Amino acid sequence: MKEVKIETKLQVYNDIKELPKDIQRLMDSAIEARDNAYAPYSKFKVGAAILLDSGNVVIGSNQENASYPSGLCAERTAIYYAGAKHPKAKILKMALTASSQNQVTDTPIPPCGACRQAIAEYEIKQDQFIEIYFMGAKGKVVKSNSLANLLPLGFDRSFL
Ligand code: THU
Repeated sequence: MKEVKIETKLQVYNDIKELPKDIQRLMDSAIEARDNAYAPYSKFKVGAAILLDSGNVVIGSNQENASYPSGLCAERTAIYYAGAKHPKAKILKMALTASSQNQVTDTPIPPCGACRQAIAEYEIKQDQFIEIYFMGAKGKVVKSNSLANLLPLGFDRSFL
């Protein structure tokens, strides 16, 4: 038996104003998307904005459903739209933000496991890291240089 230690490295910004200007703009797009989310059941709105190497920005927000499991997270709404609309473009950066109607979300909200798996697929497909920035409604912003940092021991095509 041997023990394996897995480490990850993230950067933490104090707030959105500390981010580089282009990321601030991307986060502003995510905030706008978040505010337009359709989340009548959870009252938890999430917005995602994706910057492509073509310069296009694709946004997504969570879309809920009375049949709860039929809804979809913001990150997958955005990334599947990017894949459908710009199939040849590479995804450079993703900005994520979440805001709850029930409490102040001032801690960074990371993407759920299913969304990490979905984003990982595109990182592997394009063979290029995707930068992820995530925050709550306000406060600190966490940056990950690659989705892989957020999903150690990921399942991917190499196992198939
Ligand atoms: N949600 C997202 O959009 N992204 C995540 O990464 C976590 C959760 C949505 C799904 C649901 O509409 C609401 O947030 C509460 O879980």
